[in-house]
Amino acid sequence: MSSAPLPPDLLDQATAPYRPLGQFAWRFARGKLGGDPAFAGLLQRGLIPAHARLLDIGCGQGLLAALLGSLDGQSTAERNWPTDWAAAPALCQVHGIELMPRDVERARTALAHLGERARFTLGNMCTTDFGQADVAVILDVLHYVDYPAQEDVLRRVQAALAPGGTLLLRVGDASAGLPFRISNWVDAVVTFVRGHRLTRLYCRPLGDWQALLCQLGFRVEPIPMHQGTPFANILLVARLAPPAGGPESH
Ligand SMILES: C[S@@+](CC[C@H](N)C(=O)[O-])C[C@H]1O[C@@H](n2cnc3c(N)ncnc32)[C@H](O)[C@@H]1O
Repeated sequence: MSSAPLPPDLLDQATAPYRPLGQFAWRFARGKLGGDPAFAGLLQRGLIPAHARLLDIGCGQGLLAALLGSLDGQSTAERNWPTDWAAAPALCQVHGIELMPRDVERARTALAHLGERARFTLGNMCTTDFGQADVAVILDVLHYVDYPAQEDVLRRVQAALAPGGTLLLRVGDASAGLPFRISNWVDAVVTFVRGHRLTRLYCRPLGDWQALLCQLGFRVEPIPMHQGTPFANILLVARLAPPAGGPESH
């Protein structure tokens, strides 16, 4: 399946809540939601079911919650939803966890109108309680912590997910050569500009990520998620077995 960008109306609606916060928050939202194929890719492929309880780990300024929040209250025709995309996942609830106070503040301010449907916890994913979720999303975050911490986060995500739940994990493929080195270089610069200390990144080849998730009981499907960018990012769609006797939920 080739990836398509977010429809312009949807991009406008999802990013509008950041406008009152100033140029940086708004332009960052437009650049990221408009340019990163992950956000459109999740919707296009129907990877988030309607009414899902979502855990967004390392949520930044809450862009995924903003996107999902903008899907409610309009018909498919009104929002010019592409006809070859899966149905829009209405009425999701998002719990975002984020280390950087400025990002959490922006997320809370911009998305206050979503009430209980979008809440944000300032915290470290290594220690913050994940609660319960149907879908966990970790986009470009795990490589900031060392290998044992990554494994612990993934174990806790597995425990937090309902039977049949899904982890959507985007990682860089350390075996991908030059595109991977470009990803890492850009990541280091952006991380520094966002106020983090420059430290080592803990990356793994794609096969190692897949093996780790399989050991934890997930069935894993890798989907390239870097179209239109020079990077080596892969979205791992990792599913837990559905409850015994029940239908596959996602
Ligand atoms: C590359 S950004 C990705 C943001 C968001 N997931 C997205 O795709 O737009 C990585 C985010 O993870 C956050 N982060 C890094 N280490 C973290 C940790 N230990 N706990 C929680 N968040 C963390 C960073 O502050 C940053 O907002």
